[in-house]
Amino acid sequence: MRLPFRAALITGASSGIGAAFARALPNETDLVLTGRDIQALQELAASLSRIERKVTTVQADIATDAGRRAVIEAAERAEIDLLINNAGLGSFGPAYRNAPEDERAMVEVNVVTPVVLTRALLPGMIARAERGISRAGVIMVSSISAFLPVPRLATYAATKSFNLHYAEALGADVAGHPVDVVALCPGFTATKFGARSGMKPWMFQGATSPDKVARKALRGLRRHRRLVLVGAGSRLAPLAARLVPRRFLSKVVVAAMKWRKRRAED
Ligand SMILES: NC(=O)c1ccc[n+]([C@@H]2O[C@H](COP(=O)([O-])OP(=O)(O)OC[C@H]3O[C@@H](n4cnc5c(N)ncnc54)[C@H](OP(=O)(O)O)[C@@H]3O)[C@@H](O)[C@H]2O)c1
Repeated sequence: MRLPFRAALITGASSGIGAAFARALPNETDLVLTGRDIQALQELAASLSRIERKVTTVQADIATDAGRRAVIEAAERAEIDLLINNAGLGSFGPAYRNAPEDERAMVEVNVVTPVVLTRALLPGMIARAERGISRAGVIMVSSISAFLPVPRLATYAATKSFNLHYAEALGADVAGHPVDVVALCPGFTATKFGARSGMKPWMFQGATSPDKVARKALRGLRRHRRLVLVGAGSRLAPLAARLVPRRFLSKVVVAAMKWRKRRAED
């Protein structure tokens, strides 16, 4: 895919959609790959190393300030012009009974980290793009759950609503500067996310591949799209959010999940 980026930071590159972004970017784009699983990062880096690009790995827990600082420093050194805020986690279960540390980690990784990284890195990205007469890019990985109140994923879905609204408003804030901001909203995607979140395998039947999600997001970025929806039924969530009265929305989500379960069992 023809993309102008010289260097990209990908958070959550050790698996799933983040690793797929690393694979989908052109061979000429330098990569800063971050996550906690250093072995997975190093294996990915080895498979993507090319003469024409530099690949750096940063082992960091981005739920912490120290981890975020390490990632920011590596991204500044690489002079990134593409920021992919992808790392994220979920915790399936009633929000009032989920482990308190899991509830907090979701907010730290899914919300605080993209805000901190974007605030730290975007001004330099814009300045470099303006000097070099090029364009910078930000991809914020949200979810189709961003459009809905989702029982048993209440905190997760709310963090993804944050990502969506933040990306859309940030896109308006930087209008007039040479930077595109994409909110990426995938539906169910075949990664480790489901098992790690404690979700049921049937929920991921027919899930989209992470490579398809990454490719569609990068195509959307190239076409200056503000919002990219990917996956079967991904257009239904925003439609339901517009058409269904709010007091019924969470009930509609529960009914849709029951229908999905029945279909998976047939
Ligand atoms: N899979 C889906 O159905 C789906 C649908 C919509 C949106 N999404 C979103 O897509 C994004 C990527 O998820 P995925 O599906 O690819 O899941 P995944 O395979 O579980 O990958 C999650 C990534 O986030 C990283 N991460 C989590 N907590 C971290 C922490 N404290 N510090 C550093 N890195 C951390 C993980 O790295 P380490 O394990 O190395 O720490 C991993 O690389 C998430 O934002 C998720 O909300 C997923």
